[in-house]
Amino acid sequence: LKSGLLADIAAADTLDAVEGLRVGALGKQGVVTALLKTLGGMSPDERQTQGPVIQDLREAVTAAIADKKGALEQAALDARLAEERLDMTLPADIGPQGSVHPVSQVMDELAEIFADLGFSVATGPEIEDDWHNFTALNIPETHPARAMHDTFYFPGETARDGKKMLLRTHTSPVQIRTMMNEKPPIRIIAPGRVYRSDSDATHTPMFHQIEGLVIDRGITLGHLKWTLETFLKAFFERDDIVLRLRPSYFPFTEPSVEVDVGYTLVNGQRVIGGSGNDKDGGWLEVLGSGMVHRKVIEACGLDPDEWQGFAFGTGVDRLAMLKYGMNDLRAFFDGDLRWLRHYGFSA
Ligand code: PHE
Repeated sequence: LKSGLLADIAAADTLDAVEGLRVGALGKQGVVTALLKTLGGMSPDERQTQGPVIQDLREAVTAAIADKKGALEQAALDARLAEERLDMTLPADIGPQGSVHPVSQVMDELAEIFADLGFSVATGPEIEDDWHNFTALNIPETHPARAMHDTFYFPGETARDGKKMLLRTHTSPVQIRTMMNEKPPIRIIAPGRVYRSDSDATHTPMFHQIEGLVIDRGITLGHLKWTLETFLKAFFERDDIVLRLRPSYFPFTEPSVEVDVGYTLVNGQRVIGGSGNDKDGGWLEVLGSGMVHRKVIEACGLDPDEWQGFAFGTGVDRLAMLKYGMNDLRAFFDGDLRWLRHYGFSA
């Protein structure tokens, strides 16, 4: 019986066959189980001789079944591993990819352009106090420019440390913070969010500006003009950028200059480049700028007879619109992937 059972087990070639043999030998009705049951009816002598033989049979069959089962399982695993080998050379499906928003992209481009000119990036708080946003910039309490800024004020007259708090209406307060915290010479740009209570196709209550500030000895309007021309040529990637400087007014610069850039109509589209006085040409205002006002330099604790400088400010969203041909400012903040894709900004 033993050699017969062991031969059957050795010959079994599937796990099902092994299980069938196990039930046939060791199951409730199995032949080995039946033999074990006969032990109870034997005389002590018989049991002494037959017991070890039957136990030995049971152990031998149990061990043979376990071995065979293990071997068959290993073979099945080997077969599966051989069959399911992964081809690492197949191209992977990487799925949807995010991309950089046009505003972030333009801010990066500007930071890079100005880094080449020796400017570093400065930042300031979006929740600003009245002194940094207005007073130190030569816009006193009663100045009409305050009304023009459509300021979001925080409720309460004295919101923090007795200061009136607001959402900064421009990045110019970063000029003040930089001049108060750093020793000249200073060359910084300050990109960031600004807020005004205004909303239509060309105004959103939150938008982005970039501020520039240079403070050194002997800085002139010529330095300002060269810097702006160099920056706009690099930004629009054209050499035929023509600037028009118009006298203007900002309380914190004197003299103040508004800067227009020439465009040319191409198939009814405004393309930056060329003189605005050309046939098919025109001018677009892109920047506010000027020489930093003596009073501002003084308010920051510097001597205006020793230190002079220029400052400029421009809308990042507007620059993005001009460079990438977008026409509705509000779309920048809708988060509509179709719009981003249309302008090549999303995979
Ligand atoms: N802060 C001005 C604005 O928001 C722009 C500006 C910056 C003008 C620096 C002159 C100098 O309109």
